[in-house]
Amino acid sequence: MIELKDLSKRYISKNKYGKKLRVDALKQLSLTLVSDTSYALVGESGSGKSTLARILACVERPTSGEIWFDGKNVAAMRSKALRLKRKEFQMVLQNAQSSLDPRLRIYDSIAEPIRCLTQTSRSDERKMILEIAEKVQLPEALLERFPHELSGGQQKRACIARAMSVSPKFIVFDESVTGLDVTLRKQILDLILQLNRDGRLSMFLFITHNIDVALYMADNIFVMKDGSVIEQLENAASYGDFRHDYSRMLIESLPPRSPLHR
Ligand SMILES: Nc1ncnc2c1ncn2[C@@H]1O[C@H](COP(=O)(O)OP(=O)(O)O)[C@@H](O)[C@H]1O
Ligand SMILES: [Mg+2]
Repeated sequence: MIELKDLSKRYISKNKYGKKLRVDALKQLSLTLVSDTSYALVGESGSGKSTLARILACVERPTSGEIWFDGKNVAAMRSKALRLKRKEFQMVLQNAQSSLDPRLRIYDSIAEPIRCLTQTSRSDERKMILEIAEKVQLPEALLERFPHELSGGQQKRACIARAMSVSPKFIVFDESVTGLDVTLRKQILDLILQLNRDGRLSMFLFITHNIDVALYMADNIFVMKDGSVIEQLENAASYGDFRHDYSRMLIESLPPRSPLHR
C-alpha cells in the first residue's frame, strides 16, 4: 500500500527580469493506492501530474508531506536507503527518446537499473533482459541497436522493459502513449494490461490527460486539478460515472474520435 499525506511541492523559478516565481505544483495532495490494484490519474496539462509521478518514483522529493510505503515514510528517508527503495518504484516517462540514452544500446539501457540498483552477475542479467524483452515483445535482434534505430512503438516497449527489469512493485506510467497513433497506442495499453494480468506488474498508476485512456486502463481513477485530487472513482466504467464539473469539462473537451473500447 502507498499512502500520500498532504503532499506539497513548490518550485521556485525566476522570470526573465530575475523576479522569483513560486509555483505550487502539488497542494496538500492526499491519496491511497492499495496493493495489487491498478490506477489511472487524469488531469489537464499543468495540473501537477508529472510532478506527482517524479515524487512517487523517488526521483524528486516533496516540499512537505509524507509518502508511506510498506510502513515507511519514504519522504523522510536518507539518500542511500532511498536508492534501495527505488528498485521497488519505477517510472516510464512521457518522452521515450529522452529516457533512453542515445549513446547506449537498448540492451544496456534495459540493463542500467539492474546494474545500478542490484548486484546481479552478467549471466543472470542477460537471462533477465532476454526474458523481459520477450514479455514486452521486443525482438532480441533489436537489443543491439541504438534508440534512434527503433520505431516509436519499439522505443516505448524498451522503456517499459527498462522499468520492469528490476521487477518493481509499482510502476508509474506518465503519458506513456501520448503522441502515438491510435493503433500503436492501443497496442502499448494492451501490453501493460496483459503484463498486469500475467502478474508481472501487480500495481501501476497510469497518468494521462485523456479520460478515454484513463477509463481503458483502470476502474480506479483520480481526477487532478491544480495540484489536488478533486474526484476519485472506484468503479469507473463510463463518462456518466464522473460527477465533478471539472471532470465533465474534461469529457466535453475530448476530440471527436473513436474512443478505446474495452
Ligand atoms: N522543475 C520545475 N521548475 C519550475 N516549475 C515547474 C517544474 N516542474 C513543473 N513545474 C510547474 O509545475 C506545474 C505542474 O507541472 P507538471 O507536474 O509538469 O504538470 P502536468 O504533468 O500535469 O502537465 C506547472 O505549472 C509547471 O510549470
Ligand atoms: Mg506531464
